[in-house]
Amino acid sequence: MAAPWDEWPAAPAIRLKEIEMLKVEHASVYFAASDGRRVHALDRVSLDIPDKGFVVALGASGCGKSTLLNAIGGFLPLSDGTITLDGRPVTRPGADRGVVFQKDTLLPWKNVLDNVALGLKFAGIGRAERRERAEALLHLVGLADFASAFPYELSGGMRQRVGIARALAPDPDILLMDEPFGALDSLTREQMQELLVSIWHRTGKSIFFITHSIEEALFLGTQVIVMSPRPGRIVARFDLDFVKTFAKDRNAGAVKSSLEFAALREEIRGILHTSEDLRSAA
Ligand SMILES: Nc1ncnc2c1ncn2[C@@H]1O[C@H](COP(=O)(O)OP(=O)(O)O)[C@@H](O)[C@H]1O
Ligand SMILES: [Mg+2]
Repeated sequence: MAAPWDEWPAAPAIRLKEIEMLKVEHASVYFAASDGRRVHALDRVSLDIPDKGFVVALGASGCGKSTLLNAIGGFLPLSDGTITLDGRPVTRPGADRGVVFQKDTLLPWKNVLDNVALGLKFAGIGRAERRERAEALLHLVGLADFASAFPYELSGGMRQRVGIARALAPDPDILLMDEPFGALDSLTREQMQELLVSIWHRTGKSIFFITHSIEEALFLGTQVIVMSPRPGRIVARFDLDFVKTFAKDRNAGAVKSSLEFAALREEIRGILHTSEDLRSAA
Protein backbone atom coordinates (compact mmCIF):
# COMPACT_ATOMS: atom_id res chain seq x y z
CA MET A 1 0.00 0.00 0.00
CA ALA A 2 1.30 3.44 -0.85
CA ALA A 3 1.93 5.61 2.18
CA PRO A 4 -0.23 8.75 2.16
CA TRP A 5 2.74 11.03 1.51
CA ASP A 6 3.70 9.13 -1.67
CA GLU A 7 0.53 10.53 -3.18
CA TRP A 8 1.01 14.07 -2.04
CA PRO A 9 1.84 16.84 -4.48
CA ALA A 10 4.90 19.02 -3.96
CA ALA A 11 5.15 20.45 -0.48
CA PRO A 12 2.70 23.30 0.03
CA ALA A 13 4.18 26.66 0.85
CA ILE A 14 4.01 26.77 4.62
CA ARG A 15 5.90 29.54 6.31
CA LEU A 16 8.28 28.26 8.94
CA LYS A 17 8.92 30.11 12.17
CA GLU A 18 11.49 29.31 14.78
CA ILE A 19 10.54 29.17 18.41
CA GLU A 20 13.18 29.20 21.06
CA MET A 21 11.47 27.22 23.68
CA LEU A 22 8.25 26.59 25.46
CA LYS A 23 9.23 26.32 29.09
CA VAL A 24 7.18 24.88 31.93
CA GLU A 25 8.75 25.52 35.34
CA HIS A 26 7.54 23.99 38.61
CA ALA A 27 3.96 23.91 37.43
CA SER A 28 1.39 22.85 40.03
CA VAL A 29 -2.39 22.78 39.75
CA TYR A 30 -4.98 22.30 42.50
CA PHE A 31 -8.66 22.00 41.70
CA ALA A 32 -11.57 22.58 44.03
CA ALA A 33 -13.69 19.45 43.58
CA SER A 34 -17.49 19.72 43.77
CA ASP A 35 -17.51 18.08 47.23
CA GLY A 36 -15.24 20.84 48.51
CA ARG A 37 -12.05 18.78 48.61
CA ARG A 38 -8.88 20.04 47.04
CA VAL A 39 -7.59 17.87 44.18
CA HIS A 40 -3.86 18.09 43.64
CA ALA A 41 -3.70 17.38 39.88
CA LEU A 42 -0.20 18.49 38.92
CA ASP A 43 2.87 18.65 41.12
CA ARG A 44 5.89 20.81 40.25
CA VAL A 45 6.22 19.74 36.64
CA SER A 46 9.11 21.22 34.65
CA LEU A 47 9.80 20.58 31.00
CA ASP A 48 11.15 22.25 27.88
CA ILE A 49 9.65 21.90 24.44
CA PRO A 50 12.40 23.02 22.06
CA ASP A 51 12.04 24.30 18.52
CA LYS A 52 11.03 21.34 16.31
CA GLY A 53 10.90 19.09 19.37
CA PHE A 54 8.31 16.33 19.69
CA VAL A 55 7.65 15.98 23.40
CA VAL A 56 5.26 13.26 24.55
CA ALA A 57 3.71 13.08 28.02
CA LEU A 58 2.81 9.53 28.97
CA GLY A 59 0.83 8.41 32.00
CA ALA A 60 -2.21 6.59 33.31
CA SER A 61 -5.67 8.11 33.11
CA GLY A 62 -6.19 10.83 35.72
CA CYS A 63 -2.50 11.64 36.21
CA GLY A 64 -2.86 15.26 35.10
CA LYS A 65 -1.86 15.08 31.42
CA SER A 66 -4.81 17.11 30.16
CA THR A 67 -4.37 19.54 33.04
CA LEU A 68 -0.79 20.13 31.89
CA LEU A 69 -1.80 20.52 28.24
CA ASN A 70 -4.65 22.87 29.13
CA ALA A 71 -2.30 25.02 31.17
CA ILE A 72 0.14 25.21 28.24
CA GLY A 73 -2.82 26.05 25.99
CA GLY A 74 -3.69 28.92 28.32
CA PHE A 75 -7.14 27.46 29.09
CA LEU A 76 -6.34 26.88 32.75
CA PRO A 77 -4.32 28.95 35.25
CA LEU A 78 -1.50 27.34 37.20
CA SER A 79 -1.76 27.36 40.99
CA ASP A 80 2.00 27.69 41.11
CA GLY A 81 4.92 27.87 38.65
CA THR A 82 5.27 29.46 35.23
CA ILE A 83 4.85 28.70 31.55
CA THR A 84 6.62 30.84 28.95
CA LEU A 85 6.84 30.75 25.17
CA ASP A 86 9.95 32.46 23.82
CA GLY A 87 10.24 34.11 27.23
CA ARG A 88 6.70 35.53 27.22
CA PRO A 89 4.37 34.26 29.97
CA VAL A 90 1.46 32.12 28.77
CA THR A 91 -1.70 33.43 30.39
CA ARG A 92 -4.43 32.81 27.82
CA PRO A 93 -5.04 30.87 24.60
CA GLY A 94 -3.28 32.30 21.54
CA ALA A 95 -2.66 31.74 17.85
CA ASP A 96 0.91 30.68 18.71
CA ARG A 97 -0.50 27.41 20.11
CA GLY A 98 -2.76 25.13 18.01
CA VAL A 99 -4.78 22.47 19.82
CA VAL A 100 -6.13 19.06 18.78
CA PHE A 101 -8.34 17.10 21.19
CA GLN A 102 -9.39 13.44 21.19
CA LYS A 103 -12.92 14.38 20.24
CA ASP A 104 -13.04 16.47 17.10
CA THR A 105 -14.61 19.88 17.50
CA LEU A 106 -15.51 20.45 13.85
CA LEU A 107 -18.59 22.49 13.05
CA PRO A 108 -21.05 20.00 11.52
CA TRP A 109 -22.74 22.62 9.33
CA LYS A 110 -19.50 23.75 7.68
CA ASN A 111 -17.62 21.79 5.05
CA VAL A 112 -14.03 20.61 5.50
CA LEU A 113 -12.44 23.62 3.78
CA ASP A 114 -14.46 26.11 5.83
CA ASN A 115 -13.73 24.23 9.05
CA VAL A 116 -9.99 24.45 8.35
CA ALA A 117 -10.23 28.14 7.41
CA LEU A 118 -12.37 29.11 10.41
CA GLY A 119 -9.59 30.39 12.66
CA LEU A 120 -8.17 32.45 9.81
CA LYS A 121 -11.46 34.28 9.42
CA PHE A 122 -11.34 35.28 13.08
CA ALA A 123 -7.75 36.43 12.53
CA GLY A 124 -8.97 38.84 9.86
CA ILE A 125 -7.30 37.10 6.89
CA GLY A 126 -8.98 37.73 3.53
CA ARG A 127 -11.12 35.15 1.75
CA ALA A 128 -8.70 34.26 -1.04
CA GLU A 129 -5.76 33.72 1.29
CA ARG A 130 -7.91 31.71 3.69
CA ARG A 131 -8.89 29.40 0.89
CA GLU A 132 -5.34 29.05 -0.40
CA ARG A 133 -3.93 28.22 3.02
CA ALA A 134 -6.72 25.79 3.86
CA GLU A 135 -6.24 23.99 0.53
CA ALA A 136 -2.49 23.65 1.11
CA LEU A 137 -3.14 22.20 4.54
CA LEU A 138 -5.70 19.74 3.21
CA HIS A 139 -3.01 18.55 0.79
CA LEU A 140 -0.65 18.17 3.71
CA VAL A 141 -3.06 15.93 5.64
CA GLY A 142 -4.03 13.95 2.52
CA LEU A 143 -7.58 15.30 2.23
CA ALA A 144 -7.31 17.46 -0.88
CA ASP A 145 -10.28 15.65 -2.44
CA PHE A 146 -12.55 16.23 0.54
CA ALA A 147 -12.62 20.03 0.71
CA SER A 148 -16.35 20.23 0.09
CA ALA A 149 -17.33 17.20 2.20
CA PHE A 150 -19.11 17.67 5.53
CA PRO A 151 -17.82 16.21 8.80
CA TYR A 152 -20.56 13.55 8.94
CA GLU A 153 -19.26 12.14 5.65
CA LEU A 154 -15.79 11.47 7.10
CA SER A 155 -14.33 8.61 9.13
CA GLY A 156 -12.91 9.26 12.60
CA GLY A 157 -9.35 9.34 11.27
CA MET A 158 -10.28 11.79 8.53
CA ARG A 159 -12.00 14.08 11.02
CA GLN A 160 -8.84 14.13 13.13
CA ARG A 161 -6.86 15.02 10.01
CA VAL A 162 -9.18 17.99 9.45
CA GLY A 163 -8.63 18.90 13.09
CA ILE A 164 -4.86 18.88 12.57
CA ALA A 165 -5.15 21.01 9.43
CA ARG A 166 -7.37 23.47 11.31
CA ALA A 167 -4.94 23.68 14.22
CA LEU A 168 -2.08 24.38 11.77
CA ALA A 169 -3.99 27.04 9.82
CA PRO A 170 -3.01 30.09 11.91
CA ASP A 171 0.64 28.93 11.65
CA PRO A 172 1.18 28.26 15.37
CA ASP A 173 4.63 27.73 16.88
CA ILE A 174 3.52 24.57 18.58
CA LEU A 175 0.81 21.94 18.25
CA LEU A 176 -0.76 20.69 21.48
CA MET A 177 -2.39 17.28 21.02
CA ASP A 178 -4.42 15.62 23.79
CA GLU A 179 -4.77 11.90 22.99
CA PRO A 180 -5.73 12.80 19.42
CA PHE A 181 -5.76 9.18 18.24
CA GLY A 182 -7.23 7.67 21.41
CA ALA A 183 -10.64 6.93 19.90
CA LEU A 184 -9.36 5.42 16.63
CA ASP A 185 -9.07 1.74 15.72
CA SER A 186 -5.53 0.41 15.93
CA LEU A 187 -4.81 0.33 12.20
CA THR A 188 -6.05 3.90 11.67
CA ARG A 189 -4.15 4.95 14.76
CA GLU A 190 -0.87 3.66 13.31
CA GLN A 191 -1.55 5.37 9.99
CA MET A 192 -2.27 8.61 11.83
CA GLN A 193 0.96 8.34 13.81
CA GLU A 194 2.91 7.97 10.57
CA LEU A 195 1.04 10.86 8.99
CA LEU A 196 1.78 13.03 12.02
CA VAL A 197 5.50 12.27 11.78
CA SER A 198 5.52 13.42 8.17
CA ILE A 199 3.55 16.56 9.07
CA TRP A 200 6.01 17.28 11.86
CA HIS A 201 8.89 16.76 9.45
CA ARG A 202 7.44 18.92 6.70
CA THR A 203 6.17 21.82 8.79
CA GLY A 204 9.00 21.96 11.33
CA LYS A 205 6.48 22.60 14.13
CA SER A 206 7.10 21.72 17.75
CA ILE A 207 4.62 19.21 19.12
CA PHE A 208 3.43 18.45 22.64
CA PHE A 209 1.53 15.19 22.51
CA ILE A 210 -0.33 13.29 25.22
CA THR A 211 -1.01 9.60 25.29
CA HIS A 212 -1.43 6.68 27.65
CA SER A 213 0.02 4.27 25.05
CA ILE A 214 3.66 3.39 25.74
CA GLU A 215 4.18 2.28 22.16
CA GLU A 216 2.72 5.49 20.73
CA ALA A 217 4.93 7.58 23.03
CA LEU A 218 8.09 5.69 22.08
CA PHE A 219 7.36 5.80 18.38
CA LEU A 220 6.60 9.52 18.23
CA GLY A 221 8.62 11.35 20.86
CA THR A 222 12.05 12.93 20.61
CA GLN A 223 11.50 13.25 24.34
CA VAL A 224 9.11 11.17 26.42
CA ILE A 225 8.19 12.24 29.93
CA VAL A 226 6.57 9.63 32.14
CA MET A 227 4.08 10.90 34.73
CA SER A 228 3.05 9.33 38.02
CA PRO A 229 -0.58 8.94 39.15
CA ARG A 230 -2.12 11.90 40.96
CA PRO A 231 -0.65 14.24 41.84
CA GLY A 232 0.98 14.12 38.41
CA ARG A 233 4.72 14.52 38.53
CA ILE A 234 7.45 13.57 36.13
CA VAL A 235 9.06 10.31 37.22
CA ALA A 236 11.26 9.65 34.17
CA ARG A 237 12.47 11.30 30.97
CA PHE A 238 13.83 9.68 27.85
CA ASP A 239 15.52 11.27 24.83
CA LEU A 240 14.70 9.11 21.84
CA ASP A 241 15.62 8.67 18.18
CA PHE A 242 12.96 6.24 16.95
CA VAL A 243 10.91 8.95 15.28
CA LYS A 244 13.95 10.24 13.39
CA THR A 245 14.80 6.73 12.26
CA PHE A 246 11.25 6.31 11.02
CA ALA A 247 11.23 9.72 9.30
CA LYS A 248 14.30 8.61 7.34
CA ASP A 249 13.37 5.12 6.15
CA ARG A 250 9.62 5.04 6.90
CA ASN A 251 9.62 1.49 8.10
CA ALA A 252 7.44 1.58 11.20
CA GLY A 253 7.51 -2.20 11.59
CA ALA A 254 11.31 -2.25 11.75
CA VAL A 255 11.33 0.50 14.37
CA LYS A 256 8.67 -1.05 16.58
CA SER A 257 10.08 -4.57 16.41
CA SER A 258 13.64 -3.51 17.24
CA LEU A 259 15.21 -4.84 20.41
CA GLU A 260 15.88 -1.34 21.67
CA PHE A 261 12.22 -0.39 21.28
CA ALA A 262 11.05 -3.53 23.10
CA ALA A 263 13.53 -3.00 25.95
CA LEU A 264 12.40 0.59 26.48
CA ARG A 265 8.75 -0.45 26.31
CA GLU A 266 9.35 -2.89 29.16
CA GLU A 267 11.37 -0.38 31.14
CA ILE A 268 8.59 2.20 30.93
CA ARG A 269 5.94 -0.40 31.70
CA GLY A 270 7.90 -1.14 34.88
CA ILE A 271 8.11 2.54 35.81
CA LEU A 272 4.35 3.04 35.31
CA HIS A 273 3.51 -0.06 37.37
CA THR A 274 5.89 0.88 40.16
CA SER A 275 4.49 4.40 40.47
CA GLU A 276 0.94 2.94 40.46
CA ASP A 277 1.92 0.47 43.23
CA LEU A 278 3.57 3.21 45.29
CA ARG A 279 0.38 5.25 45.09
CA SER A 280 -1.83 2.33 46.18
CA ALA A 281 0.51 1.69 49.10
CA ALA A 282 0.50 5.34 50.19
N1 LIG B 1 -12.03 21.02 36.60
C1 LIG B 1 -11.69 20.08 37.49
N2 LIG B 1 -12.16 20.10 38.76
C2 LIG B 1 -11.80 19.16 39.66
N3 LIG B 1 -10.96 18.14 39.40
C3 LIG B 1 -10.46 18.07 38.16
C4 LIG B 1 -10.78 19.02 37.14
N4 LIG B 1 -10.12 18.67 36.00
C5 LIG B 1 -9.42 17.57 36.30
N5 LIG B 1 -9.60 17.20 37.59
C6 LIG B 1 -8.96 16.08 38.27
O1 LIG B 1 -7.57 16.23 38.14
C7 LIG B 1 -6.95 14.98 37.89
C8 LIG B 1 -6.18 15.03 36.59
O2 LIG B 1 -7.09 15.12 35.51
P1 LIG B 1 -6.61 15.13 33.98
O3 LIG B 1 -5.60 16.18 33.80
O4 LIG B 1 -7.85 15.23 33.16
O5 LIG B 1 -5.95 13.69 33.82
P2 LIG B 1 -5.53 12.87 32.50
O6 LIG B 1 -5.69 13.77 31.33
O7 LIG B 1 -4.13 12.44 32.75
O8 LIG B 1 -6.45 11.69 32.42
C9 LIG B 1 -8.05 13.94 37.90
O9 LIG B 1 -8.11 13.34 39.15
C10 LIG B 1 -9.29 14.75 37.62
O10 LIG B 1 -10.42 14.14 38.21
MG1 LIG C 1 -6.83 13.58 29.64
